[in-house]
Amino acid sequence: MQVLHSIAECKHWRAAQKGSLGFVPTMGALHVGHLSLVRLSKEHCSQTLVSIFVNPAQFAPHEDFDLYPKTAKQDLKYLAGEKVDAVFIPSVNEIYKKNKEDYFFQTNLAYKLEGKSRPHFFKGVTTVVHKLFSIVNPTHAVFGKKDAQQLLIIKKMIQKKQYGIALIEAPIIRAAGGLALSSRNGYLTDQDQNIANNIYMGLKKTKEALESGEHSSRVLKLLFKNHLKTFPDLKIDYISIACTKTLDEVEGAINTAVLISAAVFLRDVRLIDNFTYFPST
Ligand code: PAJ
Repeated sequence: MQVLHSIAECKHWRAAQKGSLGFVPTMGALHVGHLSLVRLSKEHCSQTLVSIFVNPAQFAPHEDFDLYPKTAKQDLKYLAGEKVDAVFIPSVNEIYKKNKEDYFFQTNLAYKLEGKSRPHFFKGVTTVVHKLFSIVNPTHAVFGKKDAQQLLIIKKMIQKKQYGIALIEAPIIRAAGGLALSSRNGYLTDQDQNIANNIYMGLKKTKEALESGEHSSRVLKLLFKNHLKTFPDLKIDYISIACTKTLDEVEGAINTAVLISAAVFLRDVRLIDNFTYFPST
């Protein structure tokens, strides 16, 4: 496994590769969710490159950039175990100071859901993903459904900007109790994680109600909200039932595909989760 620290090293490595190259961008603190993306890339592509870069541009000043878990040694061990071909670990200095052009994929989607609570977020994500795409020049890129809005925006960006990259969408990987795996789960004690499982339990309840015929968006949101409210440690940032294409809230009866999602604080740890519902035809 090649460990590449500079843009020049990465481009040099890339130029020597033949066949397809799957790219898995991450911010490190890797867990089995990330490794599932690596495995998908390896299924589809002859080579796989993972980037590890905690992107300062997607954190607001009051957020957890400085605290974000850094587990470089363990990450490399995991990736070597997956037989990844290369890992790109650039410095902030090189990505942002020597590679000055700023880039924001402008889309209305960036101002809804996560974008409402974190207005800086998708500017930072699309900027860094654009920079990484131009350095790595992959044939395929893998993104997780755990970050459904990010996935949707990257999909739009790939189509509009014609990078010629095939997008591979990876399912959400969960812990045994249902909590979606996340690098931020490292901030939680075991007891916290038991409480946080209720984000998934609330989603599951909502899904089951929807599948057994309750189609009122208002009723479903209330059901989800009431479930979360029984746990005083959980503070709802938002609950959303939105059209999967526009991310506009669905009012009234649900009769199109919807993304049901939530962001919930457990103390100061912000957790997100979602599922997509497709009406049967
Ligand atoms: P990060 O949070 O490290 O996630 C990297 C990739 O792993 C994302 O595509 C994310 O959706 C996926 N992922 C995380 N947890 C997952 C889970 N439980 N199941 C399935 N996939 C999961 O997302 C980012 O980093 C950054 O915004 C990035 C795209 C790297 C840009 O900085």
